[in-house]
Amino acid sequence: MSTTIIDDDGVSNPSKNNSLTDLVEQQVALNLSRRSFLKSGAAFGVAGIFGMGLSGCIAFDDNGNPVVAEESSSPPISFQAVSTSTSDSVVVPEGYVAEVLYRWGDVCVAGAPAFLGTAAESWQEQELQAGDNHDAIFFFPLKDAQGNSRSDAGLLCINHEYINPEYFFPAGSINWYDNLDADMVKKMIAAHGVSVIEVSKSDSGEWSVVNNSQYNRRITGYTPIEISGPAKGDDLLKTADDPLGVEVLGTLNNCGAGMTPWGTYITCEENFNGYFGSENPLFVPTDHENRYGLRAGGFGYRWHTQDPRFDIFVNRNEPNRFGWVVEIDPFSPTSMPKKRTALGRFKHENAEMVLSTNNKAVVYMGCDERNEYLYKFVSDGVYDANTPSSGNDLLDSGILYVARLDAGVAEGDNKGVGTWIPLLFNENGLTVANGFTSQADILIRTRAAADRVGATMMDRPEWIAANPNKKGEVYLSCTNNNRRGSETPATSNAIDGTTIAGSARPAIDDANPRAVNNWGHIIRWNEDGGDAAATTFTWDIFVIAGNPNLADEAKHGSDNITVENMFNSPDGLQFDPEGRLWIQSDGDFSNVGDYEGQGNNQMLVADVTTGEIRRFMVGPSGCEVTGVTWTPDGTTCFVDIQHPGEVKSHPNKPLDIGIYPDMDAFVKNNPTAFSKWPDGNTAGRPRSATIVIRRMDGGVVGT
Ligand code: FEO
Ligand code: CA
Ligand code: CA
Repeated sequence: MSTTIIDDDGVSNPSKNNSLTDLVEQQVALNLSRRSFLKSGAAFGVAGIFGMGLSGCIAFDDNGNPVVAEESSSPPISFQAVSTSTSDSVVVPEGYVAEVLYRWGDVCVAGAPAFLGTAAESWQEQELQAGDNHDAIFFFPLKDAQGNSRSDAGLLCINHEYINPEYFFPAGSINWYDNLDADMVKKMIAAHGVSVIEVSKSDSGEWSVVNNSQYNRRITGYTPIEISGPAKGDDLLKTADDPLGVEVLGTLNNCGAGMTPWGTYITCEENFNGYFGSENPLFVPTDHENRYGLRAGGFGYRWHTQDPRFDIFVNRNEPNRFGWVVEIDPFSPTSMPKKRTALGRFKHENAEMVLSTNNKAVVYMGCDERNEYLYKFVSDGVYDANTPSSGNDLLDSGILYVARLDAGVAEGDNKGVGTWIPLLFNENGLTVANGFTSQADILIRTRAAADRVGATMMDRPEWIAANPNKKGEVYLSCTNNNRRGSETPATSNAIDGTTIAGSARPAIDDANPRAVNNWGHIIRWNEDGGDAAATTFTWDIFVIAGNPNLADEAKHGSDNITVENMFNSPDGLQFDPEGRLWIQSDGDFSNVGDYEGQGNNQMLVADVTTGEIRRFMVGPSGCEVTGVTWTPDGTTCFVDIQHPGEVKSHPNKPLDIGIYPDMDAFVKNNPTAFSKWPDGNTAGRPRSATIVIRRMDGGVVGT
């Protein structure tokens, strides 16, 4: 039996939709040569680069009121850039300090034991400790006596996306894969979900978790969650344990997230499909299941062998209850989270919420898989900052749109044009005659609905960030895409031997450097009229990542990529309170070939007015840098370091590290071979963790 765990390395989109990359290439041909990129970028230029327009704008003010952003320049980035690094440490600029705050296994809920270091905790203990693979993170400030947001105390909501089984069980005694038992599965599920922790800053400036806080809470793959919105009670959501289709156990694969002006956390379920599987040879995926990547072997976790809830043959509808955006009120520790079905079901990356001109809730969302789509939700109702309860269930009713991006040049400024297409029953071909039975059906089978209306296939949409200084301007990380073109052959799933389809998209030009997008790019769009609720927009490319060290100029990326700031695979994307764009990478850290000289994954800061990008931080060995949030005053930055030392042994993507071809042997022999971060010489395991980054002089981070 293979001991391989695979990540989501496939393609599930068999549609023939025109892909964004087609359009990017057309756009490159039209406008965006490396030389002309700056010209395009300069179209956004506003006089005065430094020290201008520091409005301190954030999307919402202390009282939850939307901040009406003025057209302004970007705030300064004046720190000394750091070099790439392959060290097993966090590198920050001179004058800054990075401190570890909250690691996998640390105490979350009162009564939790301290992390043992051997991973010998029981599942009951894991339920009280910090989960694994920290991803999105958002800071919810506590209020002072006057009702103002504090920058020295707040709640952190932290996603725990998945677990690394090679580190997750005790070494030396267990072949986890072949000896999997029910308690081991329970422990894995207990390490998923979300942490809510109270944190505070001491007089000397150091942050710590407030033990025994009433707010500290773990939400896991077992926590009861209400199904809310139009799909609630639909037949496709009913199971034997929940015959009404109204409540599900848990949230899984929580990747990106967002926050609302009414003080809730909206966490996103991404690669949920991998947890389901079946040993039954009679299991044959339906078209619907195939469209969501469900297959007999899943990603290899084999939970279905211990818990029938995850046996897709036994519980055919259980996967339909995942793939949603979940709203959590961190200030109400006993409240039941809600899966907001109006926001659609797909592999949700993050959920960037802004208010429209008329105060409707607008949530931008990407579906992170090769050749998938960009979405947004616009609420029917409006948010009234004077009545915070107006946010309650605002996300239950509205219109879900999917994006189509065309290469047309708008108004002579080198931009493409775009349309938000509504996914509404009986519109745009979403009819009974075409297999759609209701609005609930469209929301549960969102990908199929988006296929039908001709949405634009994109290079893995990850995080989305809205510019607080320019209304209606939004940025999207397209992290990479190596599955383009009909020439891409079908491959065999490493777990169950089933076929993974090659890409259905016809190749356009294999000689074009973006035909294989190994480094990713960031696009931006401007909603017409600056209104997030608009149904049309214009778009261009903010940066095309690449490697200027390579001989092939076609691989160098856009002009704002240099040997000093290069990176690959942009993923996390957030604006800080003043409007700097922070870019986090989840890419190839082999430091060879196309990635030569790019080192470990990293975090950079961009001036979206000038296009300048500067490297701020580099993470430890084998990690992904993901999730970033700030105190309202911008003087403290919280960042998540995910899976330091991760062993990726996908047979189609072997690492050159290669000294531990077998994960079990790896665990038995040396669990700290690839990383001892963050515990150093006392480490028993590498551990995902939230870190605090601050300026030693107390100034705003990034300046
Ligand atoms: Fe969980 Fe697409 O990153
Ligand atoms: Ca991500
Ligand atoms: Ca990623």
